[in-house]
Amino acid sequence: MKMAENCFIHWWRFSPSRRRQSSSRGGGGGGVSLIPTSLAVASFVLVVLYISLTSKFLSHDRHRLTYPHDQAQSTHLTITQFSLVKDDQRQPQTTAHDYAPPLTLPPAVKLESTPTKLTSSHDHHHQKAQTDSSTKPEFPSTGSNVNNHEVFHEEDIFLKNYKEMNKSLKIYVYPHRRSDPFANALLPVNKEPGGNYASETYFKNVLMNSHFITKDPSKANLFFLPFSIASLRNDRRIGVGGLPGFIRDYIFNISMQYPYWNRTGGADHFYVACHSVSRLAMHKADRVKLNAIQVVCSSSYFLPNYVTHKDLALPQIWPRHGSPDLNSAKRTKLAFFAGAMNSPVRRKLVQAWKDDPEIFTHSGRLKTPYADQLLGSKFCLHVKGFEVNTARIGDSLYYGCIPVILADYYDLPFMDILNWKSFSVVVTAMDIPLLKKILKSISSEDFSVLQGNVLKVRKHFQWNRSPVDYDAFYMVMYELWQRRSSIRVLVDDDPTNPTYNS
Ligand SMILES: *[C@@H]1O[C@H](CO)[C@@H](O)[C@H](O)[C@H]1NC(C)=O
Ligand SMILES: *[C@@H]1O[C@H](CO)[C@@H](O)[C@H](O)[C@H]1NC(C)=O
Ligand SMILES: *[C@@H]1O[C@H](CO)[C@@H](O)[C@H](O)[C@H]1NC(C)=O
Repeated sequence: MKMAENCFIHWWRFSPSRRRQSSSRGGGGGGVSLIPTSLAVASFVLVVLYISLTSKFLSHDRHRLTYPHDQAQSTHLTITQFSLVKDDQRQPQTTAHDYAPPLTLPPAVKLESTPTKLTSSHDHHHQKAQTDSSTKPEFPSTGSNVNNHEVFHEEDIFLKNYKEMNKSLKIYVYPHRRSDPFANALLPVNKEPGGNYASETYFKNVLMNSHFITKDPSKANLFFLPFSIASLRNDRRIGVGGLPGFIRDYIFNISMQYPYWNRTGGADHFYVACHSVSRLAMHKADRVKLNAIQVVCSSSYFLPNYVTHKDLALPQIWPRHGSPDLNSAKRTKLAFFAGAMNSPVRRKLVQAWKDDPEIFTHSGRLKTPYADQLLGSKFCLHVKGFEVNTARIGDSLYYGCIPVILADYYDLPFMDILNWKSFSVVVTAMDIPLLKKILKSISSEDFSVLQGNVLKVRKHFQWNRSPVDYDAFYMVMYELWQRRSSIRVLVDDDPTNPTYNS
């Protein structure tokens, strides 16, 4: 139930009105029946209207949202409650500057889903949250972590599904010869992956040697399109400009040579890319955008081409080596950020805190060792740059620093499995001026919980040459497993008008 609910739409903002709303609901458990059905229906219509206005792929999206293949887990999605909240003063505005189309959500509508049933431990946390929030100063967004002690939304379900996934998931990879002119981009590379886009290379290298691979397409749950966007981008024959044509031709080729693409219009196919040019690369391959599972680092709710719930967030991880001594780290600074000033959010951050003795912000590359800052700070800021994603979350976790996420609309990796509030602080860009207040309002007790949880989730954000259970590779496999589907998609000649038939 909880997982399903977390699959829906996450609103990474904590407005005062919402806080009031949630505390007056008395723990969030039983309020559902009090909401008149008509109000719920009206909100739902508005939401659907909003989705249909911003996505021409509505029908597919809905199909993805409701597919019932996993009876055991009952991933049937129920929208239990929407609340109408007046929110005139605090319009979402941040990422609109950069890439996203302006947010067209009707101003009075906010989405919120509430669990209908809570376990006793959740009840306990909720009660605790209530008492605590009455004694705490009311800041617009404290990112209150009090009822977020658990790293997993539903650990038992996760572990059970994981076992099942590990046993049954089979992937067919389109085969290519060493002599293929594009073998460099289609086959795994021998070199140890490194740098910003390592996730893409790691994934393919590990997958190809894993027990998930099947040579028998009739046994496959999913089909992997093995092209590497990162290497095609650097390939002189292709380059950024040649990517869309290459992908179109690649899809054409496999759809002529094999029956699998046509069978589902690509819905049981996936590709993996960490560089954000993958977005442009799919420009001439509508069905990849519409139907396939795009496993990408640049996972933002408000970017065209990324379809939340169909596509999935690949964590961007710069592989770090050596084992930092996390126990003896002396975290004397409150918060740390360094990076290029390539976004309004970053500029705003540095402007607000450049002379602060406790929050250290640095524009550009650091002259001192990066690891020293990550080991010497309590909180490490992940701030949106050109894209919502950077390797900073992985870096923070690696060095045991609590990530503070300042990247509105980031569809965070593994969000349906992990409770991000238990190990990070999510802040809206609008709250940059309040950053210090927000961080200082976190009690030392909550701080230790967050920090302890950072150490617990650390392994999920690491790649290993030979995969280790629950590492980044297995987590991505789990997410793919959640998206497997046996629904056939019939596509007519107009690719923008797919008809669905289960
Ligand atoms: C997953 O499968 C691998 C390979 O068969 C095995 O080594 C590992 O123990 C399995 N993990 C779990 C949690 O079942
Ligand atoms: C598609 O197939 C043609 C003919 O075999 C080949 O020349 C071309 O390189 C292939 N293109 C891609 C992107 O796979
Ligand atoms: C897949 O569909 C295309 C376009 O309709 C068609 O030309 C092609 O022959 C089909 N592929 C196979 C293997 O049947």
